[in-house]
Amino acid sequence: MTKLPTIGKAISRLEGREKVTGSAKYAAEYKVSDLLFGYVINSTVTKGKIKSMDTAPAKALPGVIEVFNHDNRPSTAWFDFQYADMDAPPGEVFKPLKNNQVLYNGQPIGLVVAETFELARYAAALVKVAYEEEDFTTDLEANTGKARDPKKGLATLLKPPPPKPQGDFEEAYNTAHAQAFGKFRHGTEHHNPMELFATTVEYLNKDKLRIYDKTQGTINSQMYVANVFGLKMKNVQVITPYMGGGFGSGLRPQYQLFMAVMASLELKRNVRVVLSRAQMFTFGYRPETLQETKFGADEKGNLTALYQKAIGETSRFEDYVEIVVNWGNMLYPAENVTLEYSIVPLDVYTPLDMRAPGGVTGMHPLEITMDMLAEKLHMDPLEFRLKNYTNIDKGSGKPYSSKELKKCYELGAKAFGWEKRNPTPRTTKRGNKLVGYGMATGMWDANRILGRAQAILNKNGKVQVNSAVTDIGTGTLTVMTQIAADELGLSLEDVTFSYGDSKKPFAPIQGGSWTVATVGPAVKAACHSLNKKLFKKAQKIKEELFGNADFEMAVFREGILTLKNNPQAEISYEEIIEANKGKAIKTTKSAMPNPLKTKYTKAAHSAAFVEVEVDEELGVIEVTRAVTAVAAGNIINRKTATSQILGGMIWGISKALHEETYKDNRFGKYMNQNLAEYHIPVHADINELDVIFVEEHDEEVNELGAKGVGEIGIVGMAPAIANAIYNATGKRINDLPIHFDKLM
Ligand code: MOS
Repeated sequence: MTKLPTIGKAISRLEGREKVTGSAKYAAEYKVSDLLFGYVINSTVTKGKIKSMDTAPAKALPGVIEVFNHDNRPSTAWFDFQYADMDAPPGEVFKPLKNNQVLYNGQPIGLVVAETFELARYAAALVKVAYEEEDFTTDLEANTGKARDPKKGLATLLKPPPPKPQGDFEEAYNTAHAQAFGKFRHGTEHHNPMELFATTVEYLNKDKLRIYDKTQGTINSQMYVANVFGLKMKNVQVITPYMGGGFGSGLRPQYQLFMAVMASLELKRNVRVVLSRAQMFTFGYRPETLQETKFGADEKGNLTALYQKAIGETSRFEDYVEIVVNWGNMLYPAENVTLEYSIVPLDVYTPLDMRAPGGVTGMHPLEITMDMLAEKLHMDPLEFRLKNYTNIDKGSGKPYSSKELKKCYELGAKAFGWEKRNPTPRTTKRGNKLVGYGMATGMWDANRILGRAQAILNKNGKVQVNSAVTDIGTGTLTVMTQIAADELGLSLEDVTFSYGDSKKPFAPIQGGSWTVATVGPAVKAACHSLNKKLFKKAQKIKEELFGNADFEMAVFREGILTLKNNPQAEISYEEIIEANKGKAIKTTKSAMPNPLKTKYTKAAHSAAFVEVEVDEELGVIEVTRAVTAVAAGNIINRKTATSQILGGMIWGISKALHEETYKDNRFGKYMNQNLAEYHIPVHADINELDVIFVEEHDEEVNELGAKGVGEIGIVGMAPAIANAIYNATGKRINDLPIHFDKLM
């Protein structure tokens, strides 16, 4: 029996063995009979019309079944109405193969279906496409004059625009005792999870499909397929038990899903479509962003004036939005604040949420400018942040439901040895390398939305808990099993969490760090409700023992129900099931935020401390060690949570030093669509990383007191690294990633 409670412990992920031994099946690995393989043809021009597509040489190959394009694609009602997905921004969702228009480079324009993957790929190479090209622009910097407010829509509910200006920024800034300002640029980044995007469609009959899809939301994909192809929801099952990383890329159904389902329904066959690594660069991404800051402070070090402006890219058809500039006003209480956010439509595909979308982008300029201002004031950067500490979110005027950021600063600084920092740049050396210390604050929303879960006491006395939620690699399976086991008083081995299947109770897309806070309370509620049902049954079965007892007195332990005030009273789950004529006992519960409870701002916080070494002779920047202290409420599983923060920290290193998709604006095309040239850190780039969880109690966020940890780990890293590089070299590089050439 696992020792209870399991919440708070470091528990290894329950599916770890399946994953490392290769028995865990991913979307492209399901064995289905008589499978056909699709390979997508992508546009090689950026804008214009397809004049002709010569598919004859491809079709002539034995084993090639069909080549779909805008001319011969099956018609579905969707082409004439709007159905988007759970994460669609305002605008018109892109519809593959709708017509001969090319809207962006790499747009899917055809699908070859053949008996083998290799044949389909080869045949795709034989398809000759003639285009009528049109003028285009993909250059954000050249088009900032066209920046405009994004349209509002349903999906932007969780992404509010910046608050209205407060006070008089210009006046306060111009008369400030100390001023700091900067211009910042963030390059485009593409999600590159290990697992490629893939869909395997099992054709059951003309109305019914079973789909193995790489997605962060089984029900999101199910609703998409049902609506797009006019099928009944109950006849579309989407299954995703394992996912080789999502990071936001699976928040929207990607085009391989459309292609695979289209081909399957038309050919009445099982079909699989897998995208190549290069094709992973033909849909969503973290947008390129240009920013400006101007901060002012008085002589005592109080921030008085705060200005942050951001311009991001979007497509011509959807207004992608993220929260970039709102954070400063939530963290540091200046009286005079102006925050601006706008977007520029370009001839590109729509950006897509990527781990801490907007937070990563906006906190970087904010935390750099804070450092610059601290230096002007001759204050330590940490002391300056403490001077401007607040427990009130100035943006909304609401207090935080909990905020142990001060403790993060304190414990992080201590573990790191921040007091040893030399404030004068270029003064600390290790051999011939310059050494620098930097720190930054991180912040991310602690959201929750609606989730449902079902708990079933089976005939064998074990409990199965069901939810449609995915596990994108974060440890959801393990954490939900813990929540259920603790509530039920059962060992982890006696609880099965069954998930990643659209047939199970509703769960939203797994993103926004809200899964534990959304599905967790539903699991807890379902298990609680099951306990209540069992108690009621016990009252009937053993009336003499339980008849007059109160549920508050019930104790559930290892499959036995007893009473606190009468330990002699006992009934086993087997007895209850037997009295229930051998039938399982089921209950389903929803959990959602109370819409009336909006008194608080809810957020997770972090403090990142980083040491860098810069070798000016060899041109190498290395993060030699880093500490991140996190306040994210109740930590359900210290091991999986630590892994989340470590993953975030490593991605922060990547963002600061390695990662960018380079666009050649003459061709409107990304140039480094492969993992050789799209740089991400390897083991040799990663040194000592430490994670500290600060104790934080929060009764407002949800019934578990837990805030998500999927995203907070990345937020503070890039600015902490940039601040450390400044401390080492005396150079402020505000254009991410900081490749060495920018330091020369
Ligand atoms: Mo996250 S970017 O909401 O998967």
